[in-house]
Amino acid sequence: MTHRALADHVVDIAENSVKAGAKNVKVIIEETQDFFSFTVEDDGPGIENPEKVFDPFYTTRDPSVRRVGLGLPFLKQAAELTGGYVRLLTSTGKGTRVTAWFNRRSVECQPVGNVGEAIATLLLSNPEVDWYVVRRKDGNGYEIDTKKLKELVDWDPKNPKFASWVFKFLEELEREIEGGGPDER
Ligand SMILES: Nc1ncnc2c1ncn2[C@@H]1O[C@H](COP(=O)(O)OP(=O)(O)O)[C@@H](O)[C@H]1O
Ligand SMILES: [Mg+2]
Repeated sequence: MTHRALADHVVDIAENSVKAGAKNVKVIIEETQDFFSFTVEDDGPGIENPEKVFDPFYTTRDPSVRRVGLGLPFLKQAAELTGGYVRLLTSTGKGTRVTAWFNRRSVECQPVGNVGEAIATLLLSNPEVDWYVVRRKDGNGYEIDTKKLKELVDWDPKNPKFASWVFKFLEELEREIEGGGPDER
């Protein structure tokens, strides 16, 4: 678990929703000096064995693929090491919600990493999903609704120019919410 960042967990957990076949995925990422928390909520099929998914190496995917079955266990371990937690709520046929909370004051807390990059990666790698992203940092934040964005811009993730525009867009949004309250310039 070297060099992994909190933002990587967000990508992992959101990719579970995509792999499960969700059409709509909502991601809420909240951060202050004291904590980092995120929620991923999907309208996928739900989890058949919710009591098993925190067992290391439990997976419903091809087990010959490297490193499967560790997303949720790693998340739980990393959060609990900081005195935080993971909550899983799932309902067959309705969807799944995963919430994780990390205490950033703990010396065990992983670095936050690049949240903007994580969001851009999710949006670009999974254009078939409608993403609703809520980002909060201290008193500031932004929201992204890809359903609305797709009406405004030509959504073309395979186009490198478009992809780099998305990364820059997220970079800019992250810069705007960097440091201090909203009245600080
Ligand atoms: N959002 C979700 N919807 C449906 N099933 C899920 C979801 N998240 C996780 N799962 C199930 O939990 C299993 C374990 O997930 P995880 O720990 O991330 O490992 P992996 O994704 O490598 O299988 C998955 O194989 C899948 O069956
Ligand atoms: Mg996974």
